[in-house]
Amino acid sequence: MDVDKEISSQEMLKEEIKRLKKEKGAVILAHYYTRGEIQELADHIGDSLALARIAATLSAPVIVMCGVHFMGETVKILCPDKKVLIPDTAAGCSLADSCQADQFEEFIKANPGYEVISYVNTSAAVKALTDVVVTSSNALQIVDSYPKDAKLIFGPDRNLGAYINSVTGRSMKIWNGACHVHEQFSVEKLVELKKSHPQAQVLAHPECKKALVILADVVGSTQALLNHAVNSDCKEFIVATESGILHEMQRMCPDKLFIPLPPNDSTCGCNDCSFMKLNTLEKLRDCLLNEQPTVEVDAQLAEKARRPIERMLSFKF
Ligand code: 13P
Ligand code: SF4
Repeated sequence: MDVDKEISSQEMLKEEIKRLKKEKGAVILAHYYTRGEIQELADHIGDSLALARIAATLSAPVIVMCGVHFMGETVKILCPDKKVLIPDTAAGCSLADSCQADQFEEFIKANPGYEVISYVNTSAAVKALTDVVVTSSNALQIVDSYPKDAKLIFGPDRNLGAYINSVTGRSMKIWNGACHVHEQFSVEKLVELKKSHPQAQVLAHPECKKALVILADVVGSTQALLNHAVNSDCKEFIVATESGILHEMQRMCPDKLFIPLPPNDSTCGCNDCSFMKLNTLEKLRDCLLNEQPTVEVDAQLAEKARRPIERMLSFKF
């Protein structure tokens, strides 16, 4: 297909999506890590906390969650009466997969008397075993709302857990899980980039390894990194998180330079989350047209998983 034809077919797809969205009364939510063209079509874009907060307030009968499966589950748990669609059921999450509910339950049983704090990147079954859910935007504050000597389990991200332990001086028991994207960033390439761009600030997500986090100027959730980029006087940034956020950073700061930090193995494209990138315009059109695939969560399980999510949402941060 030549370039002009490709552009016009993309434009037709976008128009079809807008028409179907109106016809079905649907709202499209998209995470910052999805493709730029998906973010541009969405009614709301955000990090996992913002999207959960927005989902809880929606009145539309159909919600399309462009992100990964656990995000669709969170929306369904918060909005059980709505039809929740995801463009591709194969959009999973290596971090959520690194914490299977049966093994997490064993871990909890082996540590009686501990409060269980789980990152939102988990299955509904893991959330159902949890006392309070957190995202990278509020994890520090929610952990710090507990007394200093509280016995806490934190799962599943070992890097985020270790980061919170180091900042708060706590010794939470941490599940040994990780995200394949954030663990792959190259410290060597960061050192090289810092030399070639001495004015640049380094922005890192706390899911990155400690060796990288200690070289960062700002450590924070996707939203916190975006906010910093917008509000800072600095004009250059090296970004150590999934590359989809560069779309919104560049849109909000057209005069600033954003350099995506490459992974260790530059052939693996690891600063792209392959799961997030499964959301394409074609699949978004098809899921609106066919009203499937839907996300379903067993009602009893959803009831148990809703409590720790609502507890998180009740915090003001
Ligand atoms: P945020 O909480 O920053 O949206 O992160 C979600 C995620 O999947 C990180 O890899
Ligand atoms: Fe999961 Fe990592 Fe992708 Fe985030 S970037 S959705 S944690 S695999």
